Amino acid sequence: MPTSTLPPGPKGHFLLGVLPEIRRDELDYLKFLVREYGDVVFLRVVNHPVFILSHPRDIEEVLLTNYSNFVKSVFLRESQALFGDGLLTADGKAWVRQRRLLQPSFHHERVAAYSRIMVDHAERLLGAWQDGETRDVFDDMIRLTMEIIAQVLFGNDLASETAQASAALRVFFEQFDERFGLYLLPEWLPTPGNIRYRRAIRRLDDLLERVIRARRSNGHDSGDILSMLLRVQDEDGSRLSERQLRDEMMTLFFTGHETTALALAWTWHLLSHHPEVQERVYKEVRGVLGERAPTLEDLPQLRLVDAVIKESLRLYPPAYGIVRQAVKDCQIGGYTVPAGASLAIFPWSVHRDPRYFERPEEFVPDRWADGLAKRLPRCAYFPFSVGPRVCIGNTFALTELALLVPAIVRRFQFRPAPGYRVHVNPSLTLRPRPGVRLVLKKR
Ligand code: HEM
Repeated sequence: MPTSTLPPGPKGHFLLGVLPEIRRDELDYLKFLVREYGDVVFLRVVNHPVFILSHPRDIEEVLLTNYSNFVKSVFLRESQALFGDGLLTADGKAWVRQRRLLQPSFHHERVAAYSRIMVDHAERLLGAWQDGETRDVFDDMIRLTMEIIAQVLFGNDLASETAQASAALRVFFEQFDERFGLYLLPEWLPTPGNIRYRRAIRRLDDLLERVIRARRSNGHDSGDILSMLLRVQDEDGSRLSERQLRDEMMTLFFTGHETTALALAWTWHLLSHHPEVQERVYKEVRGVLGERAPTLEDLPQLRLVDAVIKESLRLYPPAYGIVRQAVKDCQIGGYTVPAGASLAIFPWSVHRDPRYFERPEEFVPDRWADGLAKRLPRCAYFPFSVGPRVCIGNTFALTELALLVPAIVRRFQFRPAPGYRVHVNPSLTLRPRPGVRLVLKKR
């Protein structure tokens, strides 16, 4: 029975709401809120009303059943400086059009064609790794996945500039985290942080604009996504404008490498702490591949690799939070959600809910062996979200992970570096801080 009373939740500071608690330790605070107040929690961030939803039934309502009642949230405003109105941040009719234009680039057959690029880049990276050295493998995974997506999007046109792009993105993230703490400060203030933030975005803008302009003027079809987007026409014959092209390419460049790099880095972190699982994975990979690199045809046989990837995405979902804003009043979980309120959904905490996962905090890939994925409620495990706004790169990412994990495991073993400790940093994505420092041992 719907009620007009608000769900339970913390009172928070009269001006800042729960912003100070979020700043202190967002994930720990989230755990506390869900334990203390249950499946629907109400709180304020500064003066903005937020409902946190943790029940799969309510999550499905927002992301799937009643999705048209929700848009992307005000909390995405910060990331819009980078993505503009690209697919991740767009809403309404514009989003429908963009999704229709981009979807063909991510069909199964297209992704299959990218698989060679994925494995070739991995082999090149491994050629540079030395037996016994200690490395920040998160850095390496960022470089690897960035080189792959750069080639898929731009052919070879960005190849010599990925280091620059990566440096600019590092600055963007540092300042993004800073800015969230300064929520009340206007963006236009010329603080040193704001200046660095804008400069990083401008550098990325310049890089992409240069490549797009050059391609437009030489008209060369390199068979990559940029060529495809320069050609596509909507049903009414219209094409993407200069600005739209920039926003889509920036969105895909970022979403196409950051989350996959995180999934890989968290997988190496987990395997380095579970040497017995790492050995079993190695045996499986050797048994299937022998001396060669993996191909798409091998993937159905790499069952443990698949389970390890699922478990890693369960414990460390790179897109750890999904936020929507109600466009009109609605009922969710027995409560009235007013128009304008945000709904925050955290795969991070739902994936650790003991109602759906035994020993939820533990890394147990074997839990996926007997069809668990099919038995779970639809929104108890959803690293790529669900519904019409499900990740467009879902198949791309799962293929990339399924190829890169065996490609790397067959050549190297990982151990935590002495004194290594990692903190989970819930930034725009779920990032390891200061990195993932591991010792490599050649197989
Ligand atoms: C392990 C890797 C990945 C994870 C965990 C992931 C997760 C997600 C999630 C949860 C969303 C929904 C966000 C929301 O609705 O607020 C999303 C959207 C999106 N993802 Fe991914 N993603 C991954 C890889 C990729 C890749 C490789 C690409 C592109 C090549 C990509 C492109 C996008 C785009 C463009 C959207 C927006 C889709 C839309 O709103 O229509 N992602 N992703």
